Amino acid sequence: MSRFWSDVVKGLSPYVPGEQPRLANLVKLNTNENPYPPSPRALEAIRAATGDSLRLYPDPNAAQLREAIAEYHGIDANQVFVGNGSDEVLAHVFLGLLKQARPILFPDITYSFYPVYCALYKVDYATVALADDFSIRLGDYARPNGGIIFPNPNAPTGCLLPLADVEDLLQANPDSVVVIDEAYVDFGGASAIPLIARHANLLVVQTLSKARSLAGLRVGFAAGQAELIEALDRVKNSFNSYPLGRLAISGAVAAYRDREYFETTRRAVMASREILAGALKALGFEVLPSAANFIFVRHPKRDAQELAVALRQRGIIVRHFKLPRIEQFLRITIGTDDHCAVLVTALREILAA
Ligand SMILES: Cc1ncc(COP(=O)(O)O)c(C=O)c1O
Repeated sequence: MSRFWSDVVKGLSPYVPGEQPRLANLVKLNTNENPYPPSPRALEAIRAATGDSLRLYPDPNAAQLREAIAEYHGIDANQVFVGNGSDEVLAHVFLGLLKQARPILFPDITYSFYPVYCALYKVDYATVALADDFSIRLGDYARPNGGIIFPNPNAPTGCLLPLADVEDLLQANPDSVVVIDEAYVDFGGASAIPLIARHANLLVVQTLSKARSLAGLRVGFAAGQAELIEALDRVKNSFNSYPLGRLAISGAVAAYRDREYFETTRRAVMASREILAGALKALGFEVLPSAANFIFVRHPKRDAQELAVALRQRGIIVRHFKLPRIEQFLRITIGTDDHCAVLVTALREILAA
């Protein structure tokens, strides 16, 4: 605390991102990064963009990237907004679309950045408890609200809400913006983007950090009807005109064009997830059904935090949230099959001790 801090800063409780340790040889299963490298075509495009042109500002609207994303999803470029990671896109969504007279709604167990944005932008919110099996109960959202947001699949549970339910929610809330955060959708869900044409109140947010292995490049986007996108552009142009640099724009465009690599790597992650889930069940873990690149697990007899500490001593890091209802769970990112095997061996030893 300093006397120079503004009252706003004094009142903040910032989000704490998962650890990015500098130690070598860690099996890092704590921040849902992809274990496979980015598309070679994306890396090549980044290299090709590294030159004299870095002298110049990038395109403030990243038109080439908006077009590439629009083409991939079969929508118009004016239905796409891009930002510096989906976290930045979400920040603009909270200020530009979710700051309303009525409280917005999101699940009690969800991406823990949402309440942080609410505090930053003074967005009124109420949380809605997930069911005991951690699924979203649509009926619980049938109350006056200023907007609704949740990840699908949800984080950190990995549970997926079927698209038909998303559409029911959109229909039941025609006067609220419904934001579906699809950070993990490519690992087993169906995107709500095709519903945009029919629903003026739908905004879908995605990231290139997970299924496209580009967490280090910081690229995310939102898709929705042009009026919603215009709101985000108004916020962005009041905050930072150039959220994406030239390297990010070039790499992201190339990543979208390399569909084959994307398909191969996301399928590999999904296959490893099923193997890992089976192995952990065999060790006695309860494993929530996951449509994401992580699984959420608990052991009926062992304390989750102690397991996380014991894994760390063996050079394996997973994520433990000290939060009500989920403090006996571990969130484990899906690594390569080799990473998963190292994890299973370590857990077997820890449980036997
Ligand atoms: C649900 C959810 N949304 C958004 C993000 C942010 O992703 P990024 O800012 O890397 O695009 C994350 C990151 O873990 C996430 O879990």
